[in-house]
Amino acid sequence: MDLTTAKHAFISGGASGLGLGMADAFLKRGIPVTIADIDAEALAAVTAERGNSIRGVQLDVRNREAWAKAKAEAEAAFGPVDVLCCNAGISPNGQEFADMDPESYDRIVAINLGGVANGVFAFAADFRERGRGHIVLTSSQAGLTTTVGGVGAYSVAKFGVTALGEQLRSEMAPRGVGVSVLCPGYVATNLGTNTVKIGGDVRKYSDYMPEVTITAADVGEMVADAIEQNMAHIVTHKDVWRGVEKRMNTIKAACDYRLEN
Ligand SMILES: NC(=O)c1ccc[n+]([C@@H]2O[C@H](COP(=O)([O-])OP(=O)(O)OC[C@H]3O[C@@H](n4cnc5c(N)ncnc54)[C@H](O)[C@@H]3O)[C@@H](O)[C@H]2O)c1
Repeated sequence: MDLTTAKHAFISGGASGLGLGMADAFLKRGIPVTIADIDAEALAAVTAERGNSIRGVQLDVRNREAWAKAKAEAEAAFGPVDVLCCNAGISPNGQEFADMDPESYDRIVAINLGGVANGVFAFAADFRERGRGHIVLTSSQAGLTTTVGGVGAYSVAKFGVTALGEQLRSEMAPRGVGVSVLCPGYVATNLGTNTVKIGGDVRKYSDYMPEVTITAADVGEMVADAIEQNMAHIVTHKDVWRGVEKRMNTIKAACDYRLEN
């Protein structure tokens, strides 16, 4: 999509981190932005700093009626949304499946996958009807490859987002609508603090702390660039292929085995 023609971007989880990075990238390009977030205080603070081209709307992405209301409120102010970013999410809970607290599992899946699907349910038919626009779904590097123990519930949700995005892309392409799956590696944001704020669990699951070189603002720019190029996947970090290739190789080995046996 040529972003010079974009009229209104809507971003869930837009009051912080990667969502806010996307908001700033769109504002820089003159696109009015609605940020939707569960955190009313953060919405007020962020919009106050950025002027009249950005509006906040409170939304819990788990609530489908609230999605419909948020959409109506946003479009009454800025007109039809033509860039949708379903981005709100919480962090991994650090629990291995054998120790999994089912409530914590449900919360992660409800927000990180259910919340993304709810955004698609609220907006996709309008995009298809108008035959233009772009939808970005925030998955993760953990939505392309399984990593260390403790990320499992999060990975379940993020693999789901990857599948949703890939499927939606194939359905929307003939209708002139672009879809990208955003698969960030580690970026320093408020993910841990915000997860605790809404009652989620954050337990240490790894001693490994990657070098942080990519910022939320960088990711916002990568998203804008990927929309322009209608990229299927947006990978933010250079080391992602190593894990993906390892996973693909085990699938290939199974396929080769079947060919040979
Ligand atoms: N930061 C990373 O390293 C990283 C890596 C890969 C993927 N991600 C994904 O990026 C997305 C954004 O995360 P972030 O790192 O910017 O974190 P963040 O906490 O800074 O931003 C997430 C925003 O989502 C909001 N939110 C949480 N639950 C919500 C709900 N139920 N309804 C509406 N809003 C809700 C939070 O209030 C917050 O403003 C998430 O989906 C996350 O899983 C982040």
